[in-house]
Amino acid sequence: MAVEPPLYLDACAAAPPAEPVLAAMVGAYQGAWANPSSLHGFGFAAADSLERSRQAIATALGFPAGWLTFCSGGTEASHAALLGAASQVPKGRVVISAVEHPAVQAAARQLEAQGWELAIWPVDGVGRVDLAWLDRLLAPPTRLVSVLWGQSEVGTLQPIETIGAACRRAGVLFHSDAVQVLGHQPLAIATLPVDLLTFTAHKIQGPRGIGALVARPELPLGAIIGGGGQEAGRRGGTEAVALAAGFAAAIQLAQVRLQDGGGHDPLEPERDRLLTALESLDGVTVSGCRQRRLPHHLSLVLTSASGTPLPGRQVVSALWQRGLAVSSGTACASGRASGSPVLRAMGYAPELAGSGLRLSLGPWLTPSQLDSLPDRVSAALAAVQADLG
Ligand SMILES: Cc1ncc(COP(=O)(O)O)c(C=O)c1O
Repeated sequence: MAVEPPLYLDACAAAPPAEPVLAAMVGAYQGAWANPSSLHGFGFAAADSLERSRQAIATALGFPAGWLTFCSGGTEASHAALLGAASQVPKGRVVISAVEHPAVQAAARQLEAQGWELAIWPVDGVGRVDLAWLDRLLAPPTRLVSVLWGQSEVGTLQPIETIGAACRRAGVLFHSDAVQVLGHQPLAIATLPVDLLTFTAHKIQGPRGIGALVARPELPLGAIIGGGGQEAGRRGGTEAVALAAGFAAAIQLAQVRLQDGGGHDPLEPERDRLLTALESLDGVTVSGCRQRRLPHHLSLVLTSASGTPLPGRQVVSALWQRGLAVSSGTACASGRASGSPVLRAMGYAPELAGSGLRLSLGPWLTPSQLDSLPDRVSAALAAVQADLG
């Protein structure tokens, strides 16, 4: 009997590289392998490939190519944004939301160690920043705000335009980690009231090890890595030409999907159908915001029929035994025994904060594969409950 391959439902952790992405990278390794700074034909070919990739990404996302600095990924881009912007202004207060990715938290803690005041913006029960705090948090000495656009663990989208417009009025710099929204909704970045944005390629079927910081050109920004003056002096190190080609190919694929969906991610109706089916199972409730959520993302909190929280990590193992690759919270926090800090920030009790489950979809999944999920989830939950006694 043929054994079915496991289904991959962990796109928010990393997505499998698409064939055209691999082909673009092979092409760049073959034809543009030289150092883009070299002053000969081989170098010119590499520089040309790099700039074409930059241009393709910028065009797809609606901003001038000169705004984009390639770097190693989302973690580096967020550090470059917060530390680079803060290095050019007098010390003041930096505000981050209570549900930021650990990369932004770490950069903000570095600023705190340098003498900045750090304020954490509370969120409500669905993980949205509480706008009642907006005026108070933007008052002097606030100089920098960072709010995650799409929350990786609970899928909630933040009101980025409202926050950005308020930051503009207050003369405060605004950064947003847009890693999870990339490729899942149209982004007309040039018209957004956001000064700095973080992106990474590997969540959209691009290669690991490349990301981008997008910054408005008028913004003074310190270099995070010195060296040979690459990336307009902002990021030293010989550029990853082939990874940039893969990143550009991944963005272009995502654009085509969004166009096919009339400006919406075609995964959204599939996700909604799955969410309705899973929600009808005993002990399953949705976490995060229902209306304003990442279109490929589904997050749940799990209890037994009698209300006892089920350990998310055990459920993940039980699902893997049934051929489903999912996660409990984010990949970065999945080793934590104390429960999810994101769910805790949303007001979940400590016992329940360890009971999260995340399913994140990608275009490699078919509707009939997704139809097989509710039964498998139901069986896994029953097995975990039986184990717990
Ligand atoms: C919201 C968010 N920001 C930043 C990152 C870090 O990106 P990278 O792995 O490219 O450093 C991730 C990846 O898990 C993420 O989900």
